[in-house]
Amino acid sequence: MTGAEILFEGVSKWFPAARGGRLVAVDRIDLAVARGERLALLGQTGCGKSTLFTLIAGLARPSEGRVLVEGRDPFRAFAALRGRIAIVFQNDRLLPWRRALDNAALGLELMDVPPAERHARAGHWLARLGLSGHERDYPHALSGGMRQRVAIARAFATDAPILLCDEPFSALDELTAQRLRAEFLSLVTETGRTAIFITHSISEALEVGQRLVVLRRPARIACDLRLDAITAGPDAIRAQIRAALAA
Ligand SMILES: Nc1ncnc2c1ncn2[C@@H]1O[C@H](COP(=O)(O)OP(=O)(O)OP(=O)(O)O)[C@@H](O)[C@H]1O
Ligand SMILES: [Mg+2]
Repeated sequence: MTGAEILFEGVSKWFPAARGGRLVAVDRIDLAVARGERLALLGQTGCGKSTLFTLIAGLARPSEGRVLVEGRDPFRAFAALRGRIAIVFQNDRLLPWRRALDNAALGLELMDVPPAERHARAGHWLARLGLSGHERDYPHALSGGMRQRVAIARAFATDAPILLCDEPFSALDELTAQRLRAEFLSLVTETGRTAIFITHSISEALEVGQRLVVLRRPARIACDLRLDAITAGPDAIRAQIRAALAA
């Protein structure tokens, strides 16, 4: 399919299993994500969601099939795609020896943004995430939720057209999560970014996604819904998603 920002064609990923043989984490996935699309990805634990992100980000290569990001193989074109993809990982992955501001500025630093500008942009996002006054704190001095907010600031501070979020708000209290979900939505819609958002929560998926893909273990697509084209009521949609998750 042409025009897809992110494309999976017959993609499988397996790992050597502890007792020999292979553990299939992703099983022949075909998926096209259009530019500017907001896709929510749901699936039970261990069904391969995070593995899909490592393939998109070029941190791993498929065992079979191909992945294209902006028409390129992200593993081979890793340098060329630098700055095109921002990721909020499932755990914060902050650098312990860097203060919050320098952690939030890391993506911009890797893109060679000059220090004054990257600190201004990182500081702006720390403030939007409620971390004013913590710019000089090291990660060990921050709570888990605060660290995750630094990681979100790090991703949002880049102008990467592709945003991958791996359960970004699951470690936060509901009020903060609610606020950040709204922030995420306005950021993505204002700037027309392409976003994939992994979550375990059906409500969160319905809130952030225009399209919702449910995976079943090992990562195979159990259902693919375009929420803006659906006429069924919310209860019927939830029932359909629940059935796909349980499949
Ligand atoms: N680097 C790796 N080496 C070996 N096995 C791996 C590796 N990465 C993932 N796996 C296995 O692949 C499967 C899918 O893992 P993955 O992290 O993608 O799941 P997930 O859907 O993100 O789960 P969760 O919702 O719990 O985060 C799991 O069985 C996991 O143990
Ligand atoms: Mg995961």
